[in-house]
Amino acid sequence: MQWTGLNELREKYLSFFESKGHLRLDSFPLVPKNDNSLLLINSGMAPMKKWFLGQEEPPCHRVTTCQKCIRTPDIERVGITARHGTYFEMLGNFSFQDYFKKEATAWAWEFLTKVLEIPAELLYISVYEDDDEAWDIWTKDIGIAEDHMVRFGKEDNFWEHGSGPCGPCSEIYFDRGPEHGCGKPGCKVGCDCDRYMEVWNLVFSQFDSDGKGNYTRLERPNIDTGMGLERLACVMQGVGNLFEVDTVRAILNHVEKISGKTYGEDAKTDISIRVITDHIRSTTFMVSDGIMPSNEGRGYVLRRLLRRAARHGRMLGITRPFLTELV
Ligand code: ALA
Repeated sequence: MQWTGLNELREKYLSFFESKGHLRLDSFPLVPKNDNSLLLINSGMAPMKKWFLGQEEPPCHRVTTCQKCIRTPDIERVGITARHGTYFEMLGNFSFQDYFKKEATAWAWEFLTKVLEIPAELLYISVYEDDDEAWDIWTKDIGIAEDHMVRFGKEDNFWEHGSGPCGPCSEIYFDRGPEHGCGKPGCKVGCDCDRYMEVWNLVFSQFDSDGKGNYTRLERPNIDTGMGLERLACVMQGVGNLFEVDTVRAILNHVEKISGKTYGEDAKTDISIRVITDHIRSTTFMVSDGIMPSNEGRGYVLRRLLRRAARHGRMLGITRPFLTELV
């Protein structure tokens, strides 16, 4: 496998799925339309719920996107760890009542091992505990050895976010090597340590959830996949976290320049540099999509992110307004 830039990876993915009959759509805005269950778009499928549920006709029954996403539950962890962030891009291929498990798994495997040439032995697969069909597709059709397969319960391998389309899923993990592991005897896929990194989630979207624990089986199932572009870039660039990915690092370098500080020299300074680097990404896209700072809802999320970024600028010793220079 070869070092590949983030922008090139995005293009490789979208054109691969175009070659499999998918329509490439632009990212949807971060503000959900006609959906009160979400403050901000947090996955590739979120703007497409009506197509999954068959309530609206999609422009094509196979779609591929790179969706800008914001997730803020871990906002307090951003900066403190090198792996948390609020903004990311999610690559996805979607089937609305068209292809299902067989095609989704075969294409995911083809993309990772043939197009990107990731060595197969570094990839591990999880399936939902009683999804024998997915297990058989991976082991028999694709030929994954059983020692590279695991079964997980609902907590890990059943995807749902609020109400709407959901279902069991199958995840693909990349083994970063024992040097990134915790070294404990039981360390394997699913361990909390940094060795096995989840890169792609294939959701076999076959239920409509009301968000209160009631699931209605959909007449015809869908496919919803999501792969974090920055995560994939970590794999392809051999780096440990999103702040070291080429495009994100370019922003970080600019923060270094403005502040006169060097990343990697002091733990406290690094926290502030990471907070600013992450938050300038999310806030720039939020404002571009029409969100304004306010005291509630998504406007409050924006205000909080801006305040945190500005405060960490002060902590780095920057005394002038500087965020606009990063935009
Ligand atoms: N919707 C799924 C996810 O976000 C693919 O992980």
